Amino acid sequence: MTAPTRTWLITGSSAGLGRALVTELLARGETVAATARVPHALSDLGPSSGRRLWTARLDVTDPERIRQVVADAVEALGRIDVVISNAGYALVGAAEEASRDQIERQIRTNLTGPIHLAQAVLPYLRAQGHGRIVQISSMAGQRAAPGTAVYCATKWGVEGFFESLAAEVKGFGIGVTIVEPGTVRTGFFGRGKEVTAALPAYADTPAAVLRRRAEDGRLSCRGDLAKMACAIVDVATRPTAPLRLALGSDAYGLIRRGLTARLADLEDQKHIALSTDLSGDTA
Ligand SMILES: NC(=O)c1ccc[n+]([C@@H]2O[C@H](COP(=O)([O-])OP(=O)(O)OC[C@H]3O[C@@H](n4cnc5c(N)ncnc54)[C@H](OP(=O)(O)O)[C@@H]3O)[C@@H](O)[C@H]2O)c1
Repeated sequence: MTAPTRTWLITGSSAGLGRALVTELLARGETVAATARVPHALSDLGPSSGRRLWTARLDVTDPERIRQVVADAVEALGRIDVVISNAGYALVGAAEEASRDQIERQIRTNLTGPIHLAQAVLPYLRAQGHGRIVQISSMAGQRAAPGTAVYCATKWGVEGFFESLAAEVKGFGIGVTIVEPGTVRTGFFGRGKEVTAALPAYADTPAAVLRRRAEDGRLSCRGDLAKMACAIVDVATRPTAPLRLALGSDAYGLIRRGLTARLADLEDQKHIALSTDLSGDTA
């Protein structure tokens, strides 16, 4: 007996991880609603997959368009079983250098876009009594580093939102997984990235070093894109959704060091935390 196929909706499918996910899913015989700012970028995948590939134009910074595309996908394909909220990019440079427009665009793309997407799909997933939401975060969503403060803010934001959402929708049969990839060679540090305007004061700081290395293409990557896409699909089709999924040895190491340091900090300050409760009868 062959396993039942699912219908997936993916954002940011034109390149990188999103495109690798579409390729992996089509190879497995799944049906995909692949959305992208430029859906034409997927036209080479269409002929071999026939009606299993449905495409739509979607910029995730447009909440009205998100609702429309989700409704259109359900109408065209009958249902959505798994949503992969993947679209995103990094603003690289020191926090003080980021312009107001850069900050707002980063947040609209990486944080409020995924929130609006979740709100748009939830009525359909609840009505059908099952579904999965997979949110692509980053190892930077667990451990912040200099040179990507606004990016880290968005990824920590999705970590909080989707952790909370997971507990809210579990009872409806909906699973949520937050994926935390390490470095992987895509357009992320190339065409996809945005950089801040350099302030001389930061020239010799880690933030400027990162920006220069990103601009020169001198950042090394550990991850294998196809293996990451395969792992995400495998985990999204497990009967139970894990809340988090780290991908890559760099992600595993960085997150482990981050959590260990946070736990040590918490324990160091335990006496202060416990000293601020109401005391005696007022408790
Ligand atoms: N690569 C890494 O090292 C790495 C590590 C950790 C996490 N991630 C995360 O992985 C996800 C995918 O990134 P990637 O590595 O595949 O980078 P990528 O190759 O640059 O691909 C990013 C994708 O997001 C799309 N996108 C950007 N802004 C969008 C918007 N407003 N609306 C719709 N689509 C938009 C891009 O579309 P266009 O083609 O139209 O620009 C592109 O398809 C991101 O969420 C990123 O934060 C990546």
